[in-house]
Amino acid sequence: MSLDVKFEVLPFDEAERRLATPEEAGKPRALVVFAGADASFGGRTKALLKDAEEQVSRAAAATKFTGKSGSSLEILAPRGLAVARLLILGVGPAPAEGGEADKAKVFDDFLGLGGQTAGKLGQGASAVVYFELPEPPADAASGQFALGAFLRAYKFDLYKTKKKKDEDEPEGVSEVVLAVAEAEAVRGLVAEAEGLAEGVLLARTLVNEPANVLTPSEFARRASELMKLGVEVEILDEKAMAELGMRALLGVGQGSEEQSQLVVLRWNGGAPGAAPLAFVGKGVVFDTGGISIKPAASMEDMKGDMAGAAAVTGLLHALASRKAKANVVGILGLVENMPDGKAQRPGDIVKSMSGQTIEIINTDAEGRLVLADALWFVKEKYKPAFIVDLATLTGAILIALGQEHAGLFSNNDELAERLMKAGTATGEKLWRLPMGPVYDKMVDSKFADMKNTGGRHAGSITAAQFLARFVDKTPWAHLDIAGTGMSSPASDTNQSWGSGWGVRLLDRLVREFYEG
Ligand code: BES
Ligand code: MN
Ligand code: ZN
Repeated sequence: MSLDVKFEVLPFDEAERRLATPEEAGKPRALVVFAGADASFGGRTKALLKDAEEQVSRAAAATKFTGKSGSSLEILAPRGLAVARLLILGVGPAPAEGGEADKAKVFDDFLGLGGQTAGKLGQGASAVVYFELPEPPADAASGQFALGAFLRAYKFDLYKTKKKKDEDEPEGVSEVVLAVAEAEAVRGLVAEAEGLAEGVLLARTLVNEPANVLTPSEFARRASELMKLGVEVEILDEKAMAELGMRALLGVGQGSEEQSQLVVLRWNGGAPGAAPLAFVGKGVVFDTGGISIKPAASMEDMKGDMAGAAAVTGLLHALASRKAKANVVGILGLVENMPDGKAQRPGDIVKSMSGQTIEIINTDAEGRLVLADALWFVKEKYKPAFIVDLATLTGAILIALGQEHAGLFSNNDELAERLMKAGTATGEKLWRLPMGPVYDKMVDSKFADMKNTGGRHAGSITAAQFLARFVDKTPWAHLDIAGTGMSSPASDTNQSWGSGWGVRLLDRLVREFYEG
């Protein structure tokens, strides 16, 4: 996964010398600076813009630019600077209704700021980002800024063979000099941001890829590439899964020409023998619904029904890149859900690896069947400290929460609270929904131990209750990401259909609560 922004971190004075050299032919340069309340600058920035001061204040007045965060001002051919564009991004408070700015509020969205900057610069830019803020930011700010820029610059255009006619924008990697006070420390932060960004972008690409390309086997092959980072990879084929008794998972894939796969990814960066943290991803590479076939409208979106497995893959990439001090196991349940003469039917009864039997009511409730065996397998084999699963599991979670929060279900308050905190910190937000015996009863079956749907009511909760029957007492959380993993609204840090949702959240969870 290559990144579309290349940062060179330099101390302010060296960056200033760089700025004094003429621009390269055909590569107009941009200078990016930051303004706070009342369009004020930090001391160094003010000195740097000295000759352009009047130009800046006239442009600010003309466009009513006050330095409010989210706003920006662009000046072409600024006086006294060897750049084509001067880009001023606001990091200040919004003026309150009375006119006075709410000065107490300190700017902290550096991820968003990095995204805005990359968005304004566009593809293939050459720029100097003069990273001085009116208020000195926290240490981690430059790393977050770089991360935001990497995430914003990502574009999935693998299958576009023709350039749009009226597109004369440059393409390719942007080269950005990041001017800072402590260059050495910031280089470390930018390098760390690279590994995390690559993990998110790997997840996005997996989600964006169509299912004729990203079959279960191809997904497994791509996950295997994590070996280069020191991740141990093991792949169970259908025969191996059959021997383990994974009839719930195998039943979902049995109508497909493609072989189902279970991938085990292990990163052993923690104390030898310490119980691993387990992450399990639903990886339905395409969900037609099976015999309970889905309507045609938007069925193409179901190429993204492996966003959970994509997030787990991206997470392992991120953790291995920064050599996280934790033992982690990632499980990908990879299948394709197709209607066919061999496909499973409503009314079929399958025996899961756990020994519990399941009556199939609706073949479109397939994700929980895949997870049932994946959860049981990881619990039995690895005795993890906890299990977090991610799955584009129910349309009902979109009805409840939209695309703003993923649904959180858990049998463990501590794990749930830690996830909530990681969600707030990263902006990958969660909302906890209830579980309990009354909901659990809704998946009891007339003919088997349970059935794979719980009826119209509380669809996301009954799906979670079903999963809970396969984790026993292991601390466990289920994240329903049907609303957040795909079909994502464009934002400062994501313009892609597949969002890579969950990689930053879980990297943060591990970093904050389970390392060192
Ligand atoms: N993959 C879908 C859920 C989904 C819907 C993901 C929309 C992303 C966007 C899942 O396998 C599914 O079909 N769930 C059914 C369950 C029902 C049959 C109990 C649903 O939500 O309708
Ligand atoms: Mn389905
Ligand atoms: Zn599905």
